Amino acid sequence: MLRHLMSPLDFSTEELDKLFDLANDIENNPQKYAHACDGKILATCFYEPSTRTRLSFESAMTRLGGQVIGFSDATSSSASKGESVSDTIRVISCYADICAMRHPKEGAPMVAAEKSDIPVINAGDGGHQHPTQTLTDLLTIRSMKNTLSSFTIGLCGDLKFGRTVHSLINALVRYEDINFIFISPEELRVPDYITDMLKEKNIPYEEVIRLEDVMPKLDFLYMTRVQKERFFNEEDYIRLKDFYILDKAKLSLAKEDMLVLHPLPRVNEISVEVDDDPRAAYFKQAKYGVYVRMALILTLLNITVA
Ligand code: CP
Repeated sequence: MLRHLMSPLDFSTEELDKLFDLANDIENNPQKYAHACDGKILATCFYEPSTRTRLSFESAMTRLGGQVIGFSDATSSSASKGESVSDTIRVISCYADICAMRHPKEGAPMVAAEKSDIPVINAGDGGHQHPTQTLTDLLTIRSMKNTLSSFTIGLCGDLKFGRTVHSLINALVRYEDINFIFISPEELRVPDYITDMLKEKNIPYEEVIRLEDVMPKLDFLYMTRVQKERFFNEEDYIRLKDFYILDKAKLSLAKEDMLVLHPLPRVNEISVEVDDDPRAAYFKQAKYGVYVRMALILTLLNITVA
């Protein structure tokens, strides 16, 4: 059966457990998987800039023995001549076995999936969802803390436009005993549809403005960038871009075993002086992104390795 990944909720928590077990096995036994995708082709169709998502997908397929085609910029594809996403994916289906698509418009990968003969993976659609980042975040939490339940997570920064935040909250509500603390300026608060969903499910959350006030409570701090590309007004962006800067002084208020996560790219919101702190987990997180995408490619292509 043809299966796509549009949202982290497309996989049950049991299926996610299997995916993460596979990702951990790939991490520990990379040679076992080195030819699992021999003869297979991944297309990366990126209509929006990316470093981690595109290159980690390409690294993942290459490490599985497969090959990669694609474009990294809408202007170098026939989208610049007016071709629709639906037509593009019909053609890509003739050239590749699986496709990862990033698009600035919410829902564009879903439109592609409806017309596709091959699995389509949403690699980020506008301010909506970023499911493979969420898989990366969950694998990082599970691998580094051995659990996906009973913790307090602070999500800090641009909670309005941050698709990584929206995807992660949606995914975490399926686990037991998670407390959410949303840390943002008034203008960048988490959207109402998310707080409505939390209320409906009786899941506890707090909304605060000052990071320092909640730092001692956190088991995870998920920092995010204020996203210039989603602002309509440059003045608002300039006013809000440095609202949060995590530095050593602020980190000194945190638990000794708290972990700092960030989907990256970072701009100023985490000072580089924090990078050497053992709690800084964001570069390790980027590495987990390769293992989980390798596991995802195998799963969507129905390839098992004995
Ligand atoms: N985390 C993430 O999506 O990074 P890129 O925009 O570089 O892909």
